[in-house]
Amino acid sequence: MSVDLSVSLGRLRLPNPVLVASGTFGYARELEGVIDFTKLGGIIPKTVTAAPRIGNPPPRTVETPSGLLNSIGLDNDGIDYFIEHHLPYLTELGTPIIANIAGKSKSEFIEMASKIGEQPGLAAVELNISCPNVAGGIDFATNPFDTEEIIAGCRKVCPYPLIAKLTPMVSKIEIMVEAAQSGGADAVSLCNTFPAMALNWRRAKPILGNGMGGLSGPAIKPMVLRLVWLAAQANLLPIIAVGGIATIDDVMEFLVAGASAVQIGTATFYDPTASIKIIHELPQAIGLLNQSSVRGVIGLAHRK
Ligand SMILES: Cc1cc2nc3c(=O)[nH]c(=O)nc-3n(C[C@H](O)[C@H](O)[C@H](O)COP(=O)(O)O)c2cc1C
Repeated sequence: MSVDLSVSLGRLRLPNPVLVASGTFGYARELEGVIDFTKLGGIIPKTVTAAPRIGNPPPRTVETPSGLLNSIGLDNDGIDYFIEHHLPYLTELGTPIIANIAGKSKSEFIEMASKIGEQPGLAAVELNISCPNVAGGIDFATNPFDTEEIIAGCRKVCPYPLIAKLTPMVSKIEIMVEAAQSGGADAVSLCNTFPAMALNWRRAKPILGNGMGGLSGPAIKPMVLRLVWLAAQANLLPIIAVGGIATIDDVMEFLVAGASAVQIGTATFYDPTASIKIIHELPQAIGLLNQSSVRGVIGLAHRK
């Protein structure tokens, strides 16, 4: 039986539901020759900011027994460099490209959305309003008014579908998804990393140069699954799940919980082919549920 892997999230159409997450896939060049980009549902390159940023002091990553902790601090060369050097390469790869931007303020978000909105060839824009490692990151996505205002401002100036990347650090995720919807977002990404820290007691100091960071990897999957479940129950916007997804079983869990697509993040670091393997395994897993499309699987657990 042939299985239709395509999905639609509002105006955004993807050939399959498996994307690679921002900050874990560089600007794709880094993975050239390792995987076939055209097989992916889409690529979300590293967040870009208005001006270049040197990021946080090292060490910026540390492995803990229960996940990866990072505090990169949005190290990047700025939006102009991205548009000139990375975008022409990315938009020729034959897979949907979702640019990811972060502003320090609402007005900076809007200026960047306008600039990126003028560039041809993108599939969508993800708004990183939830980075835990910078000022003006997580704080935007913990406030529904800021979230709505930023998205509404970007909506006015950017013709592409907009995806709001939210933080897990809220008491009611539904309120934030509703704010994203009111602002005019096409979908939400749930979610960014969980604020956390690691400490070396012998040196009596935190391990990360910045003190604190964001936890990612399989440890956060059950917590993200709960958020996706709650957001799907509220039935507000299409959801892209991101958090600890590493196997076909993880992907299927998120799809039946109500996600329309997923992003593979930390798993790419320890297996750069993880996303491709999962895509290869999708048709069979969907068949096991007696479905012939990804669409037939999305939210299945809510219909039982
Ligand atoms: C080293 C590292 C860098 C990241 N950089 C970004 C980033 O620049 N922008 C962003 O939106 N998310 C960034 N993230 C968050 C991931 O996109 C993802 O939301 C998070 O890691 C949870 O998914 P995972 O558990 O599959 O990694 C980063 C994560 C890691 C581990």
